[in-house]
Amino acid sequence: MSAPNKSYDPVEVEALKPEQIERMRDEALAAFAAADSLDALHEAKVAHTGPASPLALANREIGALPPHAKADAGKRVGMARGAVNKALAARQSELEAERDARVLVEEAVDVTLPYDRVPAGARHPLTTMMERVADVFVSMGYEIAEGPEAEAEWFNFDALNIAPDHPARTMQDTFFVEGGKGEDSGVVLRTHTSPVQIRSLLDREPPVYVVCPGRVYRTDELDATHTPVFHQIELLAVDEGLTMADLKGTLDHMVQSLFGADMKTRLRPNYFPFTEPSAEMDMLCYVCKGTSVGDPDRPCRTCSSEGWIELGGCGMVNPRVLTACGVDPEKYSGFAFGFGIERMLMFRHNVEDMRDMVEGDVRFTRPFGMEI
Ligand code: FA5
Repeated sequence: MSAPNKSYDPVEVEALKPEQIERMRDEALAAFAAADSLDALHEAKVAHTGPASPLALANREIGALPPHAKADAGKRVGMARGAVNKALAARQSELEAERDARVLVEEAVDVTLPYDRVPAGARHPLTTMMERVADVFVSMGYEIAEGPEAEAEWFNFDALNIAPDHPARTMQDTFFVEGGKGEDSGVVLRTHTSPVQIRSLLDREPPVYVVCPGRVYRTDELDATHTPVFHQIELLAVDEGLTMADLKGTLDHMVQSLFGADMKTRLRPNYFPFTEPSAEMDMLCYVCKGTSVGDPDRPCRTCSSEGWIELGGCGMVNPRVLTACGVDPEKYSGFAFGFGIERMLMFRHNVEDMRDMVEGDVRFTRPFGMEI
């Protein structure tokens, strides 16, 4: 800054010459106009209005002027700084408006687009399969019956005519929960849904038509075709005059409802202590309909070219079971059947390994659909 000087003439101070001040102002206005972003404008602002800017330095020169010259120089510098600040503010709001308009376009949210829904989840295919089977019978007038999974040995075995020395009662097959004492029955994890037959007969007066879906337990190792916890569905009909023909007709109706109108079943002799006579029930292979049998050119993976698929066990309710439940076997007869849901899901959907059903990987269940 120049030193105070009484004879000082502002026109002679280079920085305060009118054309210099005009040049500083014009350079600042040009710089602001050329700034194409808020960052560039900020740089221009520091350069042209900051403490080291030419106009700020010129302003400081005013202090050294003699009093009579101060007003004139101050007015000129002040007007120039006013014009510069006004231009800066105008450009600032222009650039801010541009930025706001751009952000509105670039960051626009289309609220009509589908959003990433959190999957609601779905029931397991075993559950839907079991309910589908149960629904077939409900639509025929059957009632759903349920029983406990921790079941009295008497219901699980004795009442079903399974003698204490029956192999199913040994430690290999049965999870024992509590040993029996004296007259009291022990408690087991039910090994099949057949004890619900007994509970239903004790709870109701014939005629009885019930379908019993549920979880059962056996001490089987988990492998491709076995699991220690699996599902069965049981059917029991007790009425006057029921015969094996009614059983066969009911089975045929079930497979036709589930697999198609041209399906049928066949019975093969078997033994269950609680049915007499007993049979193993097979259904026609729903893929090859039996055409793969003896035709090496058209092998069927679903039934291994046997033409039939084994479903489960069935038979006429053993009169001893009716008697144990207080039902007169002279007046009433009945039929029953039971089969595994896991096995049905396996052949109906070509699932090769039962372990996939219990491991809980959503990649297995997703293709079955998201049925709630
Ligand atoms: C029974 O459990 C009889 N209560 C069925 C019955 C009911 C017969 C009414 C007569 C009248 P079985 O032990 O065969 O029968 O088992 C029936 C079905 O359960 C089998 O056909 C099979 O599909 C399924 N199953 C048996 N063990 C397993 C297992 N470890 N894992 C998966 N499914 C199994």
